[in-house]
Amino acid sequence: MKQQPSVLLVDDSRDMLELLRRYMNGMGLTPFTTNNVVDAIAVLEQGPVNLVITDLNMPDVSGTQLVRYIAQHFPKIPVLVITGFPDVQAAVEVMKQGAVEYLVKPVTEAELRSAVEKVLGTNTEENIAEDVAGPIAVPHMGIIGRSPRMQEVFRIMERTRNNNATILVSGESGTGKEVVARAVHYNSDRSTAPFLAVNCGAIPDQLLESELFGHTKGAFTGATTNRAGFFQAADGGTLFLDEIGNATAAVQAKLLRAVQEKEITMLGGTKAQRVNVRLISASNADLNEMVRTGTFREDLFYRLNLINIHLPPLRERTEDIPLLINHFNAKYSKDMGKKPLRIPARVMDALEAYLWPGNVRELENFIHRLVIMKDNAVAMEDLPETMKMANPERSGGHPHGDDRMRTLAEVEKEHIERVLESARQNKTKAAEILGIDRKTLREKLK
Ligand SMILES: Nc1ncnc2c1ncn2[C@@H]1O[C@H](COP(=O)(O)OP(=O)(O)OP(=O)(O)O)[C@@H](O)[C@H]1O
Ligand SMILES: [Mg+2]
Repeated sequence: MKQQPSVLLVDDSRDMLELLRRYMNGMGLTPFTTNNVVDAIAVLEQGPVNLVITDLNMPDVSGTQLVRYIAQHFPKIPVLVITGFPDVQAAVEVMKQGAVEYLVKPVTEAELRSAVEKVLGTNTEENIAEDVAGPIAVPHMGIIGRSPRMQEVFRIMERTRNNNATILVSGESGTGKEVVARAVHYNSDRSTAPFLAVNCGAIPDQLLESELFGHTKGAFTGATTNRAGFFQAADGGTLFLDEIGNATAAVQAKLLRAVQEKEITMLGGTKAQRVNVRLISASNADLNEMVRTGTFREDLFYRLNLINIHLPPLRERTEDIPLLINHFNAKYSKDMGKKPLRIPARVMDALEAYLWPGNVRELENFIHRLVIMKDNAVAMEDLPETMKMANPERSGGHPHGDDRMRTLAEVEKEHIERVLESARQNKTKAAEILGIDRKTLREKLK
């Protein structure tokens, strides 16, 4: 599969973004769109972007600041500026900050094409990947992975990004549920409207309803004015309901109505409001189980779960591990202005064999720490015992050199110990990895 260069489009005008997106598609580039600088930076952090095309005059943070930020943090990414106000002073300024081209609206497709070709000619894929050894991370919508399981995830994302189907993203902690939700939004035709993430587990029960749906003046003590909630704020865009399993019965009832009737009522209010919001939910609790025990409404579950995207734990897609390691190694090294660390094959093997109970988040933090602590190369001694243990060469898991076949009980014992070690003695986590319940694990440990 040949990877198309990706281009990040930043403009506060929805129409302009749409136009640019069409031009980019026509040129065989993969466009990402955002309508403000803060989101643009979030997209840049997510993974390689080959070109940025930005407007200058935008509310809040200006395009000039974005140009400066990119020059500092992503010096290899060329920036093309398109502005509505021809202003020599501003043009000189952004070119000094690092922009490579300056175009004035209205731009024709031909003008744009020639500018993009000129710029990308100096920024080929080889260029981006030049100092990273091993497999190169080719991100799909900013998400890294080449395993068949992730290919399947990408396929579903591709099919569903532009329809308004609700999506439930499931998977263990740190598998990338929020990244997937963001990627779907920023690659959808809603990308210029807000993406809002609400952590239903972090908002106290009695507040969640008013945070989501808003409240009217006098709805409760302290409600001195009418206040909009996340649903109103995300109008036209996407609402990401994280840890949806924490929603109370009252919230669940209102969510059902929001999905079914596309209507909400503020807390304390009587009038229904129409809302146009795409819902993406996530949970690392087992919602099926919650439905079975009656703590989560079945009707709501089916409504939210029209499309299910399951993110497998990292230990079930080990071919993604070296890709992710190289990606974060390159990213954090670049942030610190140094060359990526060399990672010898032996070390890479050990990291691949490790079970990563905290999934991609744990891997990202680990590599970040190494980049801070080490120069040049990583050695076996830099790995904590838990990771060295996972290395098949050292764990005795190899049949070679062992003069007798071990019994099933011995293998089981050793495997349980290894998993426990890798899960930092967290029995719940270990049981989850082993695919048994805690009670069974406790019995086996005895
Ligand atoms: N496939 C991926 N490619 C690149 N980065 C990833 C990928 N998956 C996860 N990450 C990174 O790993 C970290 C954790 O991801 P995220 O927050 O999406 O996990 P999560 O599933 O929502 O976890 P939790 O259940 O704990 O909230 C983030 O920094 C994210 O950018
Ligand atoms: Mg999350």
